[in-house]
Amino acid sequence: MKQIDRLSALGLFDARVPRYTSYPTAPVFSPAVGAPEQAAALGALPPDVPVSVYLHIPFCERLCWFCACRTQGTQTLAPVESYIDTLEQELTLLSGVLPKGLRMGRMHWGGGTPTILPPDLIKRLAQAVKAAIPPTDDWEFSVEIDPTMVDRDKIAALAAAGMNRASIGIQDFDPQVQAAIGRAQPFEVTRDCVDDLRAAGITSLNADLVYGLPYQDAARISDTIDKVLSLAPDRIALFGYAHVPWMAKRQKLIKEETLPDDLARYHLAELAADKFLNAGFSAIGIDHFARPGDGLETAMRTGHLRRNFQGYTADTCPTLIGIGASSISRLPTGYVQNAAATPAYTQRIAAGQLAGVRGHVMTDDDLLRARAIEMLMCDFRLDRRVLSNDELDATCAEIAAQYGDLVELTDEALTIRPAGRALTRIIASAFDAHKPEGVRYSQAS
Ligand SMILES: C[S@@+](CC[C@H](N)C(=O)[O-])C[C@H]1O[C@@H](n2cnc3c(N)ncnc32)[C@H](O)[C@@H]1O
Ligand code: SF4
Repeated sequence: MKQIDRLSALGLFDARVPRYTSYPTAPVFSPAVGAPEQAAALGALPPDVPVSVYLHIPFCERLCWFCACRTQGTQTLAPVESYIDTLEQELTLLSGVLPKGLRMGRMHWGGGTPTILPPDLIKRLAQAVKAAIPPTDDWEFSVEIDPTMVDRDKIAALAAAGMNRASIGIQDFDPQVQAAIGRAQPFEVTRDCVDDLRAAGITSLNADLVYGLPYQDAARISDTIDKVLSLAPDRIALFGYAHVPWMAKRQKLIKEETLPDDLARYHLAELAADKFLNAGFSAIGIDHFARPGDGLETAMRTGHLRRNFQGYTADTCPTLIGIGASSISRLPTGYVQNAAATPAYTQRIAAGQLAGVRGHVMTDDDLLRARAIEMLMCDFRLDRRVLSNDELDATCAEIAAQYGDLVELTDEALTIRPAGRALTRIIASAFDAHKPEGVRYSQAS
């Protein structure tokens, strides 16, 4: 049987499984966990262990049709300004419960489009976070940047606030692909943005690309990647297009007949990966690439690669504090998610309450499975000397029986061999003990 037929028979194109940016995944969260649990867990944090902070800006001036992120369109700054007011109030509430002396080792601004903020709001917001949780001396500050929604003044304001890493959205440079996803983005605008970021001292630059978009073919993705390589990014995220129109309603604007079929999609991912590997990048986990020496590559090589809501990261802070609408905190006791809709989030904060409305308390079993899934997603290797009990061992044995020589099982580890890596999400899902009813995920390839 050809390799691709074998992967297909094992569910590569049919399985619908999570991306496991957390375990359990967000659809499992329940309303039994909310603001009181959030306050208790935050208050009990050890003050001497730095935390990571994620701050969500759920606004975009344009709403790209392919996008499945939690965002809302706005043509004016008024809702953005009032949202910043609310974030400031949330930070004041957090200051009231966090232990004195707690520091922030990392901060990430995501969205939506954080660069919708004008310089004065960037400054205000950064000051408010630092006042609530002062940064460590060697902190990292990364921002998601839409190259069409940023200018030198905004970059200067972000750099002045301490931004030292940036992630730019590219997706694809082909005009027909861009037209079909409702996202015009000239190469020249992107190149100027990269030049401005480098001039502002950004040392680690990530570029987001997506394969499986409408009209994408080998020639088009190849041309996009050549252009991306000319920008000399340090990291690449190469996401498979998640077509989930039942969740992201704007994806209904994408004509399904223009999407590459399963096999074409698989070949696009392979072609793109080959090009990055040939250009000297190292493969990181299932969908990232990094230059040797970049923090992500070092983390992968030294066994410190982790996975969180932003994807792969070298961040080893055990606690992530999510701020803003829909943000999720990872606390020692488990996960807490803020109210997702901006009005609901605003109401909670205006009433003087923390915004957590859903969550999950981690059991010992959850912690074990979470680490098993994370190891497979990061290292393609579950270290059985660290993680083992009867149930995990039984699952390892079932996987070995089902996947044959695509995996290797020894007393020390369950390893996914390179030929089986396209199945990583599916294999990881064998360790998932929470399969929520009625939740549809995107395809695994
Ligand atoms: C929150 S967006 C931030 C990017 C920024 N707003 C921009 O447009 O440049 C983060 C990334 O998620 C990815 N993404 C969004 N929707 C996706 C989908 N349906 N499938 C796969 N990746 C997606 C895109 O690569 C995007 O750059
Ligand atoms: S890709 Fe970026 S700009 Fe486009 S809708 Fe999503 S978050 Fe907004």
